[in-house]
Amino acid sequence: MSDRKALLLDEVRKYHQDVQPDRAFEPGVTEIWPSGAMLDADDRVALVEAALDMRIAAGSYARTFESRFARKLGRRKAHLVNSGSSANLLAVTALTSEVLGERRLRPGDEVITVAAGFPTTVNPIIQNGLLPVFVDVELGTYNTTAERVAAAIGPKTRAIVLAHTLGNPYEATEIAELAREHGLFFVEDNCDAVGSTYDGRLTGTFGDLTTVSFYPAHHLTMGEGGCVLTSNLALARVVESLRDWGRDCWCAPGDSNTCLKRFKHQLGKLPAGYDHKYIYSHVGYNLKATDLQAALGLTQLAKLDEFTALRRRNWRRLREQLDGVPHLLLPEATPRSEPSWFGFVITVAPDAPFTRSQLVAFLEDRKIGTRQLFAGNLTRQPGYLNQPYRVVGDLTNSDIITEQTLWVGVYPALTEEMVDYVAATVTEFATGRA
Ligand SMILES: Cc1ncc(COP(=O)(O)O)c(C=O)c1O
Repeated sequence: MSDRKALLLDEVRKYHQDVQPDRAFEPGVTEIWPSGAMLDADDRVALVEAALDMRIAAGSYARTFESRFARKLGRRKAHLVNSGSSANLLAVTALTSEVLGERRLRPGDEVITVAAGFPTTVNPIIQNGLLPVFVDVELGTYNTTAERVAAAIGPKTRAIVLAHTLGNPYEATEIAELAREHGLFFVEDNCDAVGSTYDGRLTGTFGDLTTVSFYPAHHLTMGEGGCVLTSNLALARVVESLRDWGRDCWCAPGDSNTCLKRFKHQLGKLPAGYDHKYIYSHVGYNLKATDLQAALGLTQLAKLDEFTALRRRNWRRLREQLDGVPHLLLPEATPRSEPSWFGFVITVAPDAPFTRSQLVAFLEDRKIGTRQLFAGNLTRQPGYLNQPYRVVGDLTNSDIITEQTLWVGVYPALTEEMVDYVAATVTEFATGRA
C-alpha cells in the first residue's frame, strides 16, 4: 500500500471517530430503530479503500466475498446479487431452466408458500407464471409447519418457497424431507435468519437454493445486496447465467476463454465458433453487485458471530422482561432451533382492552420504532387482489397478524439500556390498561 493511501485510510479511521454520534441514551428522546446496520471504522475504511481503488464493478472482491460467505454458510457456491429480492427472483427462476429437463417448473405449476411475510418471497412465483399456494402460519413462531405444508401438497405441486420469519427457523429438517419424498424443489429464503440454526444446522443449508439480503436492516449489510447459495453445481451455473444477462459463458469479468474453447462452441442455431462470451442459454437479467458492496460485505462478515450473539442477547432480555405482561402474545423460538433474531414480535390478544394502533402510537411517541409483520396477509394487499393463487386451509392467523401484530428491534446496535427501556415502555402500556 502506498504511503499516501495508508495516510488517507488512517485519516478515515480518525474521521470515523469524529462523526460517531453522542452515545448517551436519553429515554424518550433517542430514537430506537427497529433495525439498522452496525457499521464501524473497519467498514468505513473498507468502503473508502475500495473507492480509492476504483472497484466500481463486480470483480475480485465480489468473488472473495462469494467464496468466504459460501464457506461460512456451509454451501458450495454463493452468487452475489444486488438485493435479497433479486436473490429470490433468481432462485425461483433457476427452477424453470431447461437445464433441469423434466424436473423444471412450468407455468401453472404450484409452489407452496405462506401469505404472511415479505412480498418478494412470493413475487418470483407469480412473475414466473407459477401459482402460489398459501398456507397459514402459527402465532408465536410466525412460521408455518411441516404438517400444513404436507396438507397442501397436490398433483401440481413442484416446489416449496419459505422464509424463516424474523430469524425464527421453521421445521426445516421436516420440510426438506417432505420435499425429498415428493420430488419438490425447496427454496429457503434466509434473508432474515443468517446465523440461525435448526437441529444444530445453520438455516440456509436445508434447501436446494438459499437466499440472503444485505439491506441495512439485515444480519450483514452491503447497503443494498443479496446472495443466492446452493450446493448443487448445476443450479449454481443456472443462477450465474440468469444473473449475468443469461450468458452461457462463465468467465469472470475481464477474463476470456476460461472454457478453453471460446470460439469452438456450436449452440442453438448460431454458426459454429460464435464467441462464447455472447452466447445466451437463458433469458436472463443483470443483477450483479459491485466490489464496493462486496468490500463492505467482507468486513461485515468478519463480525457475523458477534452480531448473532448481540441479537440473541437483546431478544432474550426483552423476552424475560415482558414475560407475564397481560394481553400480549410473546414470541417463541421454534423447538430445536436457535434463532439469530431479526425482530421481537408481539401480537395484541384479540380480547385486549387496547388495540395494536394504540400500542404502536404509545411506542412511537416515545421514539421506539415499530414495524408490522411485513405485508401481513399478502392476499389482502391491493397489488395482489387480482393475482391468481390458491389457499389450503384458511388464513386465520395471517389475518390476526395483519390486524394485531407488530415487532420491535433487537439489532446489534441496541444497547441493554435501550432494550430495558423498550420492555419497560411496553409493560407500562399493557399493564396500565389491564
Ligand atoms: C424474508 C425477506 N425476503 C426478502 C427480502 C428482500 O430483501 P431486499 O430488501 O434486499 O430486496 C426481505 C427484505 O426485508 C425479507 O425480509
